[in-house]
Amino acid sequence: MEVVIVPDAKAGGELIAEAMAALIRRKPDALLGVATGSTPLPIYEALAAKVAAGAVDASTARICQLDEYVGLPQGHPESYRSVVLREVVEPLGLTPSSFMGPDGSAADVQAACEAYDQALAASGGVDLQLLGIGTDGHIGFNEPCSSLSSRTRIKTLTNQTRVDNARFFDNDIEQVPHHVITQGIGTILEARHLVLLATGEGKADAVAATVEGPLSALVPASALQLHRHATVVVDEAAASKLKLAEYFRATFAAKPEWQGL
Ligand code: PGA
Repeated sequence: MEVVIVPDAKAGGELIAEAMAALIRRKPDALLGVATGSTPLPIYEALAAKVAAGAVDASTARICQLDEYVGLPQGHPESYRSVVLREVVEPLGLTPSSFMGPDGSAADVQAACEAYDQALAASGGVDLQLLGIGTDGHIGFNEPCSSLSSRTRIKTLTNQTRVDNARFFDNDIEQVPHHVITQGIGTILEARHLVLLATGEGKADAVAATVEGPLSALVPASALQLHRHATVVVDEAAASKLKLAEYFRATFAAKPEWQGL
């Protein structure tokens, strides 16, 4: 796992946006797996600025969703489909038809999960999957004790995640859905490159457990240890509980081009 410690969220966003821009220049129809939540917003802002400045043409890139709430009406502003359209597809000038995601309002949710896994497999695979991390160590919405080889399926959110996400629902936990569709951990691990961004002190324990703790279903993000090309970008606050922080800094200083990009 490569661990890159950056001064702040903006620097993390810039670093990852540059990696995404380089990928799109190399492969104009790259399939980018996007994440939602607050953490990736600086990535999307930095990438949109590059598109606006003419530094990269992202119009032929393809986008796929990591997870989705179940039961929100179609077009709900906090459905992840709406969020991705608003935060990523529109600012980057992508065609909405190039965007894949699971249907959280389907009558048969299980069939929607299977259809999404099949669509991902048929797409040629995800080139770069962005990930956030929950305070409980989840990736996507794979909550603690998710199978490390799980596929896209329905999950029940922990109370902690519903508390964390209430800020998107008028700070009213009652409005936060209980159920979600999420790419499984096994599905996520099939992407060619995983890039996890974590910022803020609230993520420090989860980051330390992911990077330095044992591989454990209790910390779903620790599954990144199984991937041959996983990059964890953390700001100083989120890195504050890493025992090997100095080693990670020295490694990146010696090889700042960020391996494999
Ligand atoms: P956040 O969510 O970026 O809003 O903290 C991360 C996550 O739950 O994966």
